[in-house]
Amino acid sequence: MRFIATCPDETKDVLAGELSRLSARELRPVYRGVGFEADLEVAYRAHLWLRTASRIQRIVAELPAETAAALAQAAASIPWTDFVLARHAFAVSAILADKDARAIGEAPVQEAIASAVAKATGAPYRPEAEEPVGVVAHVKAGICTVGLDTAGRALHKRGWRLPGHPAVLKETLAASLLLLAGYDGSEPLIDPMCGSGTIAIEAAYIAMNKAPLIHRGKDDFGFERQAGFDRALWRRVSDQARAAKLPAPRAPVFAGDIRADFVELARKTALRARVEKHMSFFVSPLQQLVAPAPRGLLIANLPYGERISAQPGLYADVGRALRGPFATWRAALLVPAGAPLAAFDLPRPSQSFALMNGALEVRLLVFERR
Ligand SMILES: C[S@@+](CC[C@H](N)C(=O)[O-])C[C@H]1O[C@@H](n2cnc3c(N)ncnc32)[C@H](O)[C@@H]1O
Repeated sequence: MRFIATCPDETKDVLAGELSRLSARELRPVYRGVGFEADLEVAYRAHLWLRTASRIQRIVAELPAETAAALAQAAASIPWTDFVLARHAFAVSAILADKDARAIGEAPVQEAIASAVAKATGAPYRPEAEEPVGVVAHVKAGICTVGLDTAGRALHKRGWRLPGHPAVLKETLAASLLLLAGYDGSEPLIDPMCGSGTIAIEAAYIAMNKAPLIHRGKDDFGFERQAGFDRALWRRVSDQARAAKLPAPRAPVFAGDIRADFVELARKTALRARVEKHMSFFVSPLQQLVAPAPRGLLIANLPYGERISAQPGLYADVGRALRGPFATWRAALLVPAGAPLAAFDLPRPSQSFALMNGALEVRLLVFERR
């Protein structure tokens, strides 16, 4: 079966690495994602284990789409009952990726696919339904690639997020930072500016070999509401994931912040993510920290002037911590693209990754140590 896992363009390599470790085959980069082939077992595993994918689609057809009429005619010949069940409402979203596609228009593309699906399966076309089965029609160069959204809800929604911090990272971005920094859970980790705890919680999951989507409820994944769902296989894959979880992290995970209310939020969030008892929390300004282990990875999402007022001199203080108490630690710092790097007064980073945090251009700077 063919799939596309979507992600920001900047993190495609990280996602491809995850897919290859899951034994997905025929990996190929596509616009904002990675295409792959997998049998049902590997596909189910991917939905549970991918830390950096936003969504997953199963590709079910590639149809000629020079005109709406040609698309409608081709769509009528697809065995939709192999994919869509009569009892669930469905919706069709159209992505028109070039000028010719836009000339056909969104509504005619949706209409061509929706009427073929409804006619073949009897399923109600109800875009306004609460969680309809998602059909995605991507039109480019005269071809409509039709995908089924097998993830259902976006995969960054792990189910543990709480409100209360103004500048949280998306869970999938936090996991990407960790993997880009080469974190595999075997070294101590500290996030001294943890805010709501996103990075440290994702790290605890990695350190415990815990599947990021393991706590999703029944019927939450799109594929559970689609034709061909193999409940016995899904149960086996989920049981294997639960069994793979280690009783404790392979190395300690520390999370702290200057603000006690944020540390309390991070602790409560970790409790919802069921890793709280495996992490250590502290309230302290970064300037007064003592390294909790001889070596490890210090990772931090520095405050941005735009959303959290950056303290003057903070960059210099971060640099001092990395030359002083954390001199033997590796470091990974997420900073705005235009940040005054000279203020760190550190040797050049070993690696620098250009990323987007929402609409903000940011950089992940990785400092390896001797
Ligand atoms: C951009 S936020 C981190 C958000 C976090 N990655 C998340 O997903 O929730 C930066 C954090 O740095 C904290 N902070 C600012 N100055 C600090 C300092 N001197 N020492 C420790 N933490 C500090 C802020 O309280 C804020 O929570």
